[in-house]
Amino acid sequence: MATASAAPLASLLLASILLLLGAPALSSGGGCGGEAHPGYSSGGEGTCTVDAGAAALTPATRERGGAGGGRRIIDITHAYVADLPTFATGEVAGPVVRLKQSMAEGSEYNLSELKMECHTGTHVDAPGHINQANFAAGLDVDTLDLDVLNADVCRIFFSPARAKLSSERVPPGPVARSCSVAAAHLLAYLTCELATMAAPPLLVMLLAVAVTLAPQDLVAGGGAAHPAYTNAAGAGDDSCGLASAGAEVALEEHGGGRIIDITHAYRPDLPAPGRDGLGPVTRLKESMANGSVNNVSELKMVVHSGTHVDAPGHMVQEHFVAGLDVDKLDLDVLNGPALLIDVPRDTNITAQAMESLNIPRGVRRVLFRTLNTDRKLMWTKEIDTSFVGFTEDGAQWLLDNTDIKLVGVDYISFAAFDHLISAHLVFLNNPAIIPIEGLKLDHVKAGIYMLHCLPLRLIGCDGSPIRCILIK
Ligand SMILES: *[C@@H]1O[C@H](CO)[C@@H](O)[C@H](O)[C@H]1NC(C)=O
Ligand SMILES: *[C@@H]1O[C@H](CO)[C@@H](O)[C@H](O)[C@H]1NC(C)=O
Ligand SMILES: *[C@@H]1O[C@H](CO)[C@@H](O)[C@H](O)[C@H]1NC(C)=O
Ligand SMILES: *[C@@H]1O[C@H](CO)[C@@H](O)[C@H](O)[C@H]1NC(C)=O
Repeated sequence: MATASAAPLASLLLASILLLLGAPALSSGGGCGGEAHPGYSSGGEGTCTVDAGAAALTPATRERGGAGGGRRIIDITHAYVADLPTFATGEVAGPVVRLKQSMAEGSEYNLSELKMECHTGTHVDAPGHINQANFAAGLDVDTLDLDVLNADVCRIFFSPARAKLSSERVPPGPVARSCSVAAAHLLAYLTCELATMAAPPLLVMLLAVAVTLAPQDLVAGGGAAHPAYTNAAGAGDDSCGLASAGAEVALEEHGGGRIIDITHAYRPDLPAPGRDGLGPVTRLKESMANGSVNNVSELKMVVHSGTHVDAPGHMVQEHFVAGLDVDKLDLDVLNGPALLIDVPRDTNITAQAMESLNIPRGVRRVLFRTLNTDRKLMWTKEIDTSFVGFTEDGAQWLLDNTDIKLVGVDYISFAAFDHLISAHLVFLNNPAIIPIEGLKLDHVKAGIYMLHCLPLRLIGCDGSPIRCILIK
């Protein structure tokens, strides 16, 4: 809930009710109408938000997903249009992103920065928002129960594969070389895909796979433990980020193990360009200590920080012009069955490595766990350029020989450092491919899951923070 220091609680409640009633007149950005891309006139200096013309987005339903234009997914989140309402009378949210680095100024990519009040647009309140006791108890937004926030999907299809998985004893320690996909897992994957896509060709694929694939073991990681949210009770006066909350490499499960969080919390020591790490991304803008009725934080970070997604327009000018921003990413690709697979630890993701993984046709979402996870690189604030990623030929091999559309990796760049631009371009030239970087795959068992990844609706933007979870 957006707030202003003077707003009494009653008006906050009233506003909630209005928002619950949907009051469309309150907001102008009801979503991106159908097929039409908003025209991004880059809005002049320093902003990558839409201009007035583009903002004439009518409150239309944005439905995505399913082969042949199915209507599997409905987006009920407001895009961050500049005129989103706020509580301050006569004011609007304004643009929330600006270009920090621009190709127009000789950079190899466009890099946007996000800055907004944490209660802007479609958002959630944490218990600590107006209740001091809850705040002191560490009930911040990162402790909200993902089990409550997310329903159960496809569980029924996964149980046979899961039973098989648990019977496969995988020794701890170094990861085996062959990381191929077991037939039973693949069957479950495709069955779930079928349930969501209802695409006849998949039936054929399913049969073919069932017949041809010899069962092979998946490689699994370590054990499970619920993260203890060490409540470091506030990291200094100006930050609402806990200094080291979740700073342990633990499996983060919710709902009795039903949901696994594979998104990194925004710790100040997340790796970022330079030596100092990401630093704090939130600060208290209004504080109860200063007489405000509530604490309101502001978020500010480069959109490619931590766990995030790249849009085609990040590096490819023609896609940018075509309006292929992060808000156009296909929610159908971002949500559905996915395979978490281990890449042999002695190699980058080369063509040869890709081939050795034997990922069958029909698999559309793959999370690649690599040596980066073993080396805990996401827990090391200084960028380590020896991280594992796609080489140019590895990226090309994926395009040419698989049906993979969603590529997830365990470091902040999917492209190996020596192929930083070239491998990025292989994927970003193809708008059908969605690369998700900086996933937290520590201790998650290899196998199939329902993957849910949701970027922020940052119009005109080259990337976005993304929340990804796995549902068993
Ligand atoms: C609000 O922020 C102050 C710091 O200014 C902090 O002491 C207090 O615990 C916070 N309260 C809530 C409810 O967030
Ligand atoms: C509280 O108010 C003081 C004085 O205006 C200001 O310097 C400080 O930044 C404020 N702190 C917060 C957390 O709002
Ligand atoms: C990068 O930003 C500039 C504005 O500075 C814009 O003209 C250009 O189209 C953008 N390119 C990409 C690929 O985003
Ligand atoms: C992966 O490539 C990087 C260069 O981009 C290199 O430093 C690193 O040693 C390679 N890792 C492996 C495991 O081959």
